[in-house]
Amino acid sequence: MNFRKKIFFFLLIVLGFANLSHAQENRMWIPSEANFAYSLMVESGARFSKNDLYDPAKPSFNDAIVQFNGGCTGEVISPYGLILTNHHCGYSAIQAHSTLEHNYVADGFWAKSFDEELPNPGMYVTFVRKIIDVTDSVLEGVTNDMPEKERQSRVDANIQKVKKNMSRKPWQDVEVKSFFYGNKYYAFVEETFKDIRLVGAPPSAIGKFGADTDNWMWPRHSGDFSLFRIYAGKNNRPAEYSPDNKPYRPEKYLKVSLNGVKKGDLIIVYGFPGKTQEYLPSFRIRQIVEKVNPLRIAIRDKALEILGKYMRSNDTLKLKYTAKFARVANYWKKWKGENVGISRAHAIENKQYLEKLFRTQMQNKNYSASDKAILDSLRNAYEQLLPAELARNVFIEAGYLNNPWMQRGFLLSIALQKVSDEKLSEEQRRRILSSFKDSDKRVEKELFIAMTKMLKENMPEAYLPGIFKNLIPEQTADWMMQNSALTDRKRMEKLLDLKLSDLQSAIKNDSGVSLAQALLFEYNGKINPDYQSAQADVNRLMRKYLKLQMELNPVARFNPDANGTLRVTFGKVEGYDPRDGVHYEPFTTIDGVIEKYIPGDYEFDLPESYINIYKKKDFGPYALKGTVLVNFLGTAHTTGGNSGSPALNASGELVGLNFDRVWEGTMSDLFYDPKICRNIMVDMRYILFIIDKLGKARNLIYEINSPKNN
Ligand code: ARG
Ligand code: GLU
Repeated sequence: MNFRKKIFFFLLIVLGFANLSHAQENRMWIPSEANFAYSLMVESGARFSKNDLYDPAKPSFNDAIVQFNGGCTGEVISPYGLILTNHHCGYSAIQAHSTLEHNYVADGFWAKSFDEELPNPGMYVTFVRKIIDVTDSVLEGVTNDMPEKERQSRVDANIQKVKKNMSRKPWQDVEVKSFFYGNKYYAFVEETFKDIRLVGAPPSAIGKFGADTDNWMWPRHSGDFSLFRIYAGKNNRPAEYSPDNKPYRPEKYLKVSLNGVKKGDLIIVYGFPGKTQEYLPSFRIRQIVEKVNPLRIAIRDKALEILGKYMRSNDTLKLKYTAKFARVANYWKKWKGENVGISRAHAIENKQYLEKLFRTQMQNKNYSASDKAILDSLRNAYEQLLPAELARNVFIEAGYLNNPWMQRGFLLSIALQKVSDEKLSEEQRRRILSSFKDSDKRVEKELFIAMTKMLKENMPEAYLPGIFKNLIPEQTADWMMQNSALTDRKRMEKLLDLKLSDLQSAIKNDSGVSLAQALLFEYNGKINPDYQSAQADVNRLMRKYLKLQMELNPVARFNPDANGTLRVTFGKVEGYDPRDGVHYEPFTTIDGVIEKYIPGDYEFDLPESYINIYKKKDFGPYALKGTVLVNFLGTAHTTGGNSGSPALNASGELVGLNFDRVWEGTMSDLFYDPKICRNIMVDMRYILFIIDKLGKARNLIYEINSPKNN
């Protein structure tokens, strides 16, 4: 290639990668590697110091942020370990404490003193104190041509060594995680607290105002928050629950600001994003959009149609199935938005362009033939993966998640595999029987019929257990209603009371159980192993693909995909244009809540006391120009797991609570488009307004460090 051509390609590549990696701000940075990000934040107005952002030796923001119960984020907002997170993150705890007399889900809950705070067995939060790049130690002795198995055991052994040698306090743990598909490794020194108590929650009507209709949508009006407290044992250290534990005294807590943010202001979102896949090749995105998403959407369409029909027909059923419906609808809606967004953002074409550049770059370099063919190998690997992946999705969606009879059958089969005694244990018994809670036979029967049809129609031939081939779902369902223990609680109780040998022979005659066993057997024996091995192949090739890209473009900045580890991202407060002729402003107000109010509706009802406060305009110090701001939008790159993440202003004060993204931008997990990807936050003033005016929890208002209280 001549010189001019070389320059041309170099420019194309630099521009291409700038495009691939979108604007610098919309990324998820590892806090210990955020020098450059920090300089960009300063350019955008940040006034806190680099060491506030992250400092392994002194209290810094990360010391006020927790991974909440494994899947969400929370932040400490008082000197007594008070944690703020989303209502939907605390929901199961709020629900678990609710009874008919004390319906905290419906009415909200506000502890007026430490004594009134409610323990939650099993709940935990984790702080990240230190992050260390351990790539060299983990990859020690690993070579490029090593067989994959050997590489893996080498890596595993090295990780064990790293963990053992890492300096840490006795109450701390060390976790090592892979980044860039195994090109890099980081160690995290963590502290996990296990005595977490419920402190406050607004009524659901506020916490999930708009419910499924508004989920993933803008304009939004949710007060999606709840409050918990960390309790510590002796010397302020992590401890199991004990009535003697004391409120935790944190190293750092976030200051709440009542000043809010304006359009264009910097926001920083700190938290634990779960999973993104920003480096997938074009053909993989095509598979997701054309094969994987449509399949799981179609199965959920059917399940939601059935649940919705029964929920509309009767209030008792509505109550029983609301939570289940919300769970199924959440990702169903997300996948639909993802498909729309991928096409609007021309994600596939964008990636194809980059792949062309990559191929051109590779041609002119001294790489092996197999390296040069990496994209073709990847394409093959993804084609290999697809059948097992689809089968796995059919199993999960139609065989398990939306098929309660089969799900119960799996619980029983697994319990029987594990049993060592004369009888099932109390715990196993309880788990199986609790699956009848909030269930209804008509709904379960209709789901069984529809999902079994889905299984038969969509399971790739090679993975459909023989027993399903000639089965007529309606007939089987009728038989099961009459005879199977999977469809009736009393029958199940009787079965579980039997001695093990009698139980084993009794289920031989239960063809419902046989169906579940056959399905589970197929999954464990074939579907999942095939999927895992094809996935391992894909990962190995993705590792190489990324490595090559990084070698070819040493100046480009690569940020690792989200993997559940602590990240910081930033952006500004900004609206967006979802489609031609439509523009969205980045703020909503309490007036909009009232506009959406539908008395008695399960999604848009409001407490009477809230309406009264609104009528009196009793907004206190939380008002802005005669109203209260409720939700706002930002350009921060977030994903599932960022629920409950703090949004900080340029001074590092807490101004918002992240809880969702906009529907048109949910493809940001695969391809971030700064034009339409937005994160949604609750304004801190709305949260304080609800605690103060609706909850009348003055104790919490005093406790939360906010300048207007001082
Ligand atoms: N879409 C948000 C997130 O993924 C909120 C989900 C909870 N709300 C709901 N209506 N399901 O997780
Ligand atoms: N609601 C999501 C969560 O539970 C956050 C929204 C998103 O996926 O961005 O983590």
